[in-house]
Amino acid sequence: MSSTQVSPAAPTVHAEGSPTEPWWRHAVIYQVYPRSFADASGDGMGDLPGITQRLPHLAELGVDALWLSPFYRSPQNDAGYDVADYRDVDPLFGDLADFDALAARAHELGLRVIVDLVPNHTSDQHPWFRAALAAAPGSRERARYVFRDGRGPGGSLPPNNWHSTFGGVAWERTTNPDGTTGQWYLHLFDSTQPDLDWTNPEVRAEFEAILRFWLDRGADGFRVDVAHGLVKRAGLPDWEEPAGDGAEPITHADGKHPAWDQNGVHEIYRSWRHVLDEYPGERAMVAEAWVEPLSRLAGYVRPDEMHQAFNFAYLLAGWDPARLRSVIAASYVVNDAVGAPTTWVLSNHDVVRHATRLGLADPTSRPNGIGLHDEQPDAVLGLRRARAASLLTLALPGSAYLYQGEELGLPEHTSLDDELRQDPTYRRTEGKELGRDGCRIPLPWAADEPAMGFSPTGATWLPQPPEYAPLALDRQRGVAGSTYELYRAALRLRREHGLGTGGFAWVAGPGDASATGGAYPPEVLAFSVRDVVVVANLGTTPVPAPTGLRVLLASTDVPDESQVPGESTVWFTR
Ligand code: NOJ
Repeated sequence: MSSTQVSPAAPTVHAEGSPTEPWWRHAVIYQVYPRSFADASGDGMGDLPGITQRLPHLAELGVDALWLSPFYRSPQNDAGYDVADYRDVDPLFGDLADFDALAARAHELGLRVIVDLVPNHTSDQHPWFRAALAAAPGSRERARYVFRDGRGPGGSLPPNNWHSTFGGVAWERTTNPDGTTGQWYLHLFDSTQPDLDWTNPEVRAEFEAILRFWLDRGADGFRVDVAHGLVKRAGLPDWEEPAGDGAEPITHADGKHPAWDQNGVHEIYRSWRHVLDEYPGERAMVAEAWVEPLSRLAGYVRPDEMHQAFNFAYLLAGWDPARLRSVIAASYVVNDAVGAPTTWVLSNHDVVRHATRLGLADPTSRPNGIGLHDEQPDAVLGLRRARAASLLTLALPGSAYLYQGEELGLPEHTSLDDELRQDPTYRRTEGKELGRDGCRIPLPWAADEPAMGFSPTGATWLPQPPEYAPLALDRQRGVAGSTYELYRAALRLRREHGLGTGGFAWVAGPGDASATGGAYPPEVLAFSVRDVVVVANLGTTPVPAPTGLRVLLASTDVPDESQVPGESTVWFTR
């Protein structure tokens, strides 16, 4: 063969879909973190009117939808993932009319809106939990949460040995109205985030009503927080291999841990699917489920459950070609088996930004925050690899999530003053884990404006590092070769070439799939999707370009089109 096409012998890992299939099978969805996207009021905290004003940015970038992290009434002990009222907007962010205006403007611009649903726990300020504390053990009020008597003399020890994801024990002891010590309640996260009891029909009914509330208001779907945590094993048995005093591991294997990935969660999602299906417009749900292995994750996207599940195994593969290759292949196998799309993701508000992670000496490591006393990333290398990783991701058939600011190539804030840290993880681990504040910094829109254009007054709830100024949107927009223009081009070409609904087949070498002209080295991931051949070269030395094709888009300069430079991804076409 004279040009790189997939030979009949090449394994087609994933079959082509139809361009008319539902939007969520191939959509690129942009995560907006409301605290840090844009501040219209000038108080230093992002808000819904700020997001609405900036929606044209998302339309220009070329995404299909946005996902809003929580903006509900909340004491903000976990940045809004501690909800006190699921049917109202926190005054920090605006009000319900502001949400309606945001959704209307997004829809006008052709963007769908996904909201965050936090069903595993409420805030301790939720009326249900306040009522539970005021009520007696065994009451209807307490039965909405997981209250238990303690063990040991006087019930002074926690009911079991589970740890909080944020560090420390997963139980908090209550004080009775008369001042005596009382029962304990479970919190898999902060002690201000009590877990709900999902065996209680009242809890189930309430959340179906909350789904309807937002569906009626025009939400196009839900990102479901901690989707693997709602159901706990009956009897709440001790976990045989406690993780130690620190935080729980971020992924949970095979439903073994009695707090995570229990089979009972699936029945909940089946009932929610019925609710969504009653509404027109292909409403969709995406699971945030840190579970392993991928075959277990695929259980969440069976045809009568969720539509998507974040592929965190892909995020965690870092810059390791063997791991990436096996995650990509396995993802298509397990998701195709249940007829679901694969949902690719590299960054979000819980992990170190990929432009930084990939610049660490070990680019597969995933520290929980980086501070001044830690290894600092190689920023140039990190950005180079991040751009390559993003082009790899956006070529993969399926859906993809982008985290705000990655289109600017933003790094993590790695020199944040410890006193400013707000993530409960920092406090709960006594500073052993720095936490997630460094990836949640307000966006730079205009280098020379107050707060880099984030807020008209210059106020910011977390300080922006000086490195953000040259990366501000106004420094990149219209600038050939900028990360912003790279993302725009990738999203346009992905759409034009139908990559999201394409088939996927590995390409063995630059000649063709039968490796005429030699096979690519193991550091290279090469594959074809529709009329595009993608070569991601994770090694440091150039490799031959596919023969007979021209460069469509590249993550770095390609001085010689017959070579794919090291640490870069290039899209080729006929
Ligand atoms: C996952 C969310 O993404 C994270 O930010 C939050 O802290 C936990 N769930 C608890 O809700």
